[in-house]
Amino acid sequence: MKTEGGSDGAKRRAGERAAEDVEDGFVVGLGTGSTTAHAIRALGRAVDDGLEIRGIPTSFQSRRLALEVGIPLTDLDAVDGVDLAIDGADQVVDDPEGGSHGALIKGGGAAHAREKLIDAAADRFVVVADPSKLADRLERPVPVEVLPDARPVVAERLREMGGEPTLRDAERKDGPVVTDNGNLVFDCAFGAIDDPDALAARLSRIPGIVEHGLFVGLADATYVGSADGVSVRRY
Ligand code: A5P
Repeated sequence: MKTEGGSDGAKRRAGERAAEDVEDGFVVGLGTGSTTAHAIRALGRAVDDGLEIRGIPTSFQSRRLALEVGIPLTDLDAVDGVDLAIDGADQVVDDPEGGSHGALIKGGGAAHAREKLIDAAADRFVVVADPSKLADRLERPVPVEVLPDARPVVAERLREMGGEPTLRDAERKDGPVVTDNGNLVFDCAFGAIDDPDALAARLSRIPGIVEHGLFVGLADATYVGSADGVSVRRY
């Protein structure tokens, strides 16, 4: 379920600010979505100007854009580590007094399995967002990538947990969205999520779920673009 809203200018400011954190020699995780695309384009311009980096894309989309703008690519098994990952989000908890500050919902582009792998592998993970993504609590449906054969069993388990799973349909193709990994996606509504960490742990224990879109305790900072600048949340 793709997030709507947020001005392109705000997304661009956030993405370009994150790209400024990339240093010569870095291995960079390249996230997915319209906000991160601005960071990837900025990195492409920096590479043109002599910055030496290698990117690890999180999706077909980010791989194609990185190739288009000239960022040399690599893989997790060809590097010692990932210095910095830059990635977008569908919702970000913005509640400095609460226990879930910086928790995310991701997967609006169905790329969250590879995103979580690479974002979690990075020494530092920076989220890029516009103000429409900020919320007191996570309440959007949680994207859940499932093995195709596991669909009925996982749907039943999600319902037992109080969720309402909806198989994500493709646009301009009959039938469901098929992820870059060949799997299907449920968008599972749980209402307002009071304890994302506990829900994440329960989802991770269900056989047949490849990955879910709750990212808890992973982000180091969120750069929030606005009409005239960027504000930074550090966690
Ligand atoms: C991809 O699966 C998602 O996790 C994206 O990172 C997320 O949907 C943010 O995308 P936008 O920057 O386009 O809102």
